[in-house]
Amino acid sequence: MNSLFRLDGRIALVTGASSGLGAHFATILADAGAVVALGARRHDRLLNVAENIKMRGGRTGVFEMDVSIPESVDSSLNQIESELGTVDLLVNNAGVAIGQNALDVTEADWDAVINTNLKGAWTVAQQTAKRLVAAERSGVIINIASILAYRVAKGVSPYAASKAALVQLTKSLALEWAKHQIRVNAIAPGYFLTEMNNDFFTTKSESRDALIKNIPQRRIGKPEELSGTLLLLASDASSYMTGSTIVVDGGHMQASI
Ligand SMILES: NC(=O)c1ccc[n+]([C@@H]2O[C@H](COP(=O)([O-])OP(=O)(O)OC[C@H]3O[C@@H](n4cnc5c(N)ncnc54)[C@H](OP(=O)(O)O)[C@@H]3O)[C@@H](O)[C@H]2O)c1
Repeated sequence: MNSLFRLDGRIALVTGASSGLGAHFATILADAGAVVALGARRHDRLLNVAENIKMRGGRTGVFEMDVSIPESVDSSLNQIESELGTVDLLVNNAGVAIGQNALDVTEADWDAVINTNLKGAWTVAQQTAKRLVAAERSGVIINIASILAYRVAKGVSPYAASKAALVQLTKSLALEWAKHQIRVNAIAPGYFLTEMNNDFFTTKSESRDALIKNIPQRRIGKPEELSGTLLLLASDASSYMTGSTIVVDGGHMQASI
């Protein structure tokens, strides 16, 4: 791998590393030389991801964490700091989606989505940044947004709102933390097959076929098609980028709604 994208000596935390994109991101960062802390609620699933990373020669550790609970984030970050070192590369990936028509969304649905996707990302970012500032260290934060930050679909109103806010939060944090040498960027993926959307994409339906037909590249993405963007934003290759959100979506943003 080109040395421009290497991450040797970096201590990464990937939230939501127990499945899907997070498990993939953690593996890619470890392959590039970072020591990777895996954070999520499901301990057994994190252990599987850790096993895979170790088999590939990477260094990793498992840290149970609920991003919607600030005390859980604090105690995990303390544990990571004492076992691996201060996190200087955060991938704020933990996220949930609840499919529900806007009229039927309950307060509990709303809170679950916003407290994970937006408040959770803010909590982990702020707690990570406070530790970096105290240690006078530079760092990188990558927020995982979505094209639903920009365009809409039916049945995902809290999710779309959370991701739009996450893009704006990315810009705010970038603006305030540049003076601390902390860069904050985001990735806005289109559709990638994971547990979050497995039922929808693996069951034949008119809406599924219509959605795929509407993507200019006529298919959903594979997690490895996010690897290059992740490594760009994680490494010094993007040393003059902060506050940016990169869309990776097979052209979906250019399609009519
Ligand atoms: N797949 C797509 O097409 C797509 C497109 C755009 C954006 N995204 C974004 O990509 C990210 C990953 O999603 P995915 O598709 O990989 O879905 P996924 O397989 O369902 O993964 C979601 C991850 O988030 C973790 N998580 C959920 N709530 C959490 C909490 N309170 N605390 C800590 N971890 C939590 C889950 O782990 P535990 O349950 O073990 O805690 C899981 O590891 C999300 O932010 C999602 O919005 C995905």
